[in-house]
Amino acid sequence: MFRKKKADNTINPQQVALVENAQYRIAQKRRFQTHLLVTLFLIFFASVLDFAFEYKADFMPFNTRWSLALATLLGIVLVVHFLKVYVFYSFMGKAWEAEQMEFLLEKQAIKVEKLKRTMDKEAALKASAEWEREKQYKNITMIAAIAENNALGKDNKLIWHLSDDLKHFKNLTKGHHVIMGRKTFESMPKALPNRTNVVISRQKEYTAENAHVVHSLEAAIALAHEDDRPFIIGGGEIYRQGMAFANCIELTRVHDDFEADTFFPEIDTAVWREVWRENHDKDEKHAHAFSFIRYEKIDA
Ligand SMILES: NC(=O)c1ccc[n+]([C@@H]2O[C@H](COP(=O)([O-])OP(=O)(O)OC[C@H]3O[C@@H](n4cnc5c(N)ncnc54)[C@H](OP(=O)(O)O)[C@@H]3O)[C@@H](O)[C@H]2O)c1
Repeated sequence: MFRKKKADNTINPQQVALVENAQYRIAQKRRFQTHLLVTLFLIFFASVLDFAFEYKADFMPFNTRWSLALATLLGIVLVVHFLKVYVFYSFMGKAWEAEQMEFLLEKQAIKVEKLKRTMDKEAALKASAEWEREKQYKNITMIAAIAENNALGKDNKLIWHLSDDLKHFKNLTKGHHVIMGRKTFESMPKALPNRTNVVISRQKEYTAENAHVVHSLEAAIALAHEDDRPFIIGGGEIYRQGMAFANCIELTRVHDDFEADTFFPEIDTAVWREVWRENHDKDEKHAHAFSFIRYEKIDA
């Protein structure tokens, strides 16, 4: 089956130049032919007057036949015209070719320049998008209290009560975005005060009082992009996803093992480096010893 080639309606400037040149040549040759006919006619007419009717022209010097002089004059003009159209044109043709070549090269150079500019622009956009992304993910901190066995919670509740840990949590997160999974949000009596609560849920209709609802961790991070230190505050499912985005973990390690149904992901020491630690013994207000530990992502 033949497929008809689609007509290309774009006007190529080179083609326009070729057509214009062809038109110019035709007009030039036509003018020469007219010139030739007019010259022949004039010579014939003058010869008839001169020879047949013996029309005398006394103004001619040396008794030259004026028809012959006229024929010579017209002949010279005709020869000049002939040379211009058929001989000198070949030089013009080369000049024209050179002009066309220059024109094409110029066109090519403009194209290359345009392409370069587009590529530069794309590279700049890519770099700025990467930079924005990096900047956005720069200071994301995960904050969690976990047991020695990484236990986080049970039956959608916290397992222990450590008042200094709560104070620590409040101090760090105050004024910032706190990003959490829907289950963690529901485990709290209400949205955390003095913070921007962001709840992640896959349920499109889900609403949460005094909190923003988004449908992915990325969307939560994007929502907090103006915050210089947004916090991911749990629970287990969100921490697992947050590992890739965060560059800091503020961990409270409770020095006991607990039965639980939700666990914090393993902290890979090839990825995370401990940079600060503060130990707290158990006392009348705290049933378990614990440590505040800060981890930073290596190469973050
Ligand atoms: N010890 C601590 O520091 C600490 C801190 C926080 C929480 N916790 C404990 O952790 C437990 C809760 O953790 P969890 O792992 O069960 O639940 P979670 O992480 O708090 O929330 C899970 C829910 O988040 C939503 N979700 C998760 N990933 C999503 C994604 N990519 N896109 C959209 N939505 C997403 C889903 O909500 P939908 O089902 O609505 O779609 C999912 O069911 C509780 O026991 C809590 O007390 C402990």
